[in-house]
Amino acid sequence: MCKLTEILNSVNFCLEKPLNPKNIGKRDMKVNFKRNIAETISLLTKIEKEKIESLIEIPPNPELGDYAIPCFQFARELRANPVEIAKNIEDSFYSSSLENERAKVIQKVEAKGPYINIFLNREISINDILKNLIVHNFSGMEKYGKGKTVVIDYSSPNIAKPFGIGHLRSTVIGNSLKKIFNFLGYNVIGINHLGDWGTQFGKLITAYKKWGDEKELDNEPVKYLYSLYVKFHKEAEQDPELEEEARRWFAKLEKGDPEAISLWEKFCKLSLGEFKRIYKRLNVEFEYYMGESFYSPMLDQTIEEIVKSGITKISEGALIVPLGDDIPPALLRKKDGSTLYITRDLAAAIYRYNRFKFDLMLYVVGSPQALHFKQLFKVLDKMSKKWVKNCHHVPFGHISFENESMSTRKGNIILLEDVINRAVDLARKTIEEKNPEIAEKDKVAEAVGIGAIIFNDLKNSRIKDIVFDWNEILNFNGETGVYLQYTHARITSLMKKFEAKYEKIKFEEGLKYGQELFPFVMKLNDFEDVVLKSSENFEPSIISRYLLDLASEFNSYYNRYRFITEDYKQSLSKIVAASAVKSVIKKGLNLLGIEAIEEM
Ligand code: ARG
Repeated sequence: MCKLTEILNSVNFCLEKPLNPKNIGKRDMKVNFKRNIAETISLLTKIEKEKIESLIEIPPNPELGDYAIPCFQFARELRANPVEIAKNIEDSFYSSSLENERAKVIQKVEAKGPYINIFLNREISINDILKNLIVHNFSGMEKYGKGKTVVIDYSSPNIAKPFGIGHLRSTVIGNSLKKIFNFLGYNVIGINHLGDWGTQFGKLITAYKKWGDEKELDNEPVKYLYSLYVKFHKEAEQDPELEEEARRWFAKLEKGDPEAISLWEKFCKLSLGEFKRIYKRLNVEFEYYMGESFYSPMLDQTIEEIVKSGITKISEGALIVPLGDDIPPALLRKKDGSTLYITRDLAAAIYRYNRFKFDLMLYVVGSPQALHFKQLFKVLDKMSKKWVKNCHHVPFGHISFENESMSTRKGNIILLEDVINRAVDLARKTIEEKNPEIAEKDKVAEAVGIGAIIFNDLKNSRIKDIVFDWNEILNFNGETGVYLQYTHARITSLMKKFEAKYEKIKFEEGLKYGQELFPFVMKLNDFEDVVLKSSENFEPSIISRYLLDLASEFNSYYNRYRFITEDYKQSLSKIVAASAVKSVIKKGLNLLGIEAIEEM
């Protein structure tokens, strides 16, 4: 008897519990059809369910079923050819005692050549999917990160330097990752690792003491401090003594000299005030502001620990950690005793692990710092910090402007605040053209303008360079935030229309009808996988792409069929499906850090 027949014959005895899809594994927010199918076929064939699940495909054409499994890979294990296997699975599916339960989710199993095609029971599927989304409101997602802590180091601009468009990317990507992990139930700790320490403060103090003016400083602090910084560099080209003086001031600062400290504090306070204004508009919050200076008191001890681990060397008076032939050594302390960016990052990583015992730590920092993080992780690895395997640099590409109006000329930094203001102004104009009657115009303009900037940043995989094209980012029909916000608002208004014509939407009742919505409801069912995938890849764009697809599928449906007709049941079922789309778009936008809008 061939192995397959043997297994198939024994199948009736191996069913210890009835196969109730609701009891398989933990409760998923979505209805996990693939897993249900895999478990069922696994019972019939004794092939590992994980293997089966990984092979399940979506057929190119719905006539071939909602799912299909190619049987080629089972041939060796079952000692039969794929066509035979498919046929046998079909037969056994109907003859086995799976009978009653399969009727629930799997309607039909059909062998077609070497494939098994599987047809779901649409009524039950639609009902389950929508119910999970609407009635249970995404519950179940939080199980993935339960009990786990993730630290996210993001934004981290530099004191006394303008908040440039470059730091925008870190801010937006980090903020979205935070929301994604939060949604998955992780304990998320967002840290702003402000650049508030280092030799540049020696330069700033020198410049301020030489040329500074208090009134100008209070007027526009960051702009003014930055101009002092630029002036310092220009002057230092002629007068190298300035560099020496700056070094002395930084050394004083590190030793806690009161004058140095008080100037430094002033610079920090003023800059931070400006940064916080931007965060507020972007709706970004941090659990902690722990800048580089925070670790300054820990540096001696950190260096001591590194030296004790036996991996350091003195080279030309400086303390270094050699890292092999491929990576340049890490410089921990200069000849003059001053510490460096990486010294503070080492202290920070160790501190964060001791304090938060994180399961994952992400550094959302542009790709030019890839080498820095390689060195950082390598030093920690050499120190035998096992947890370094859970630390990741999350790099991203460069951002630039398409047209002249805001291009970077040398020494001319693009201020994020100017970009935000311009986007919001443009948004206001566009909205006024489209819908002059709209309530709360300013609020909507702010949400649309900021949403446009954020979405433009998150719509493509983060490692790609992005171009800021003013003509594109507010396009109502493009791949934009406003397209999604508009779709969301459109559904809200449809729901209102329905309620005006009939009565308050009865969600539970609406779930019963409307099988023609099936393919599009299946798409909603992918949301859970999409969010998980984006968390695994630290990639918010997976959510953005999905939302664009979902919205365009919805909109093309909307353009083809009328939603509210004289047929109550049909209208209700469509409205219920639409409101599930609305929930998913809203949740998705929120995970990107964008506000969903009810009316626009
Ligand atoms: N302030 C740094 C910069 O602007 C980014 C800091 C990133 N975080 C870190 N832990 N190194 O380049």
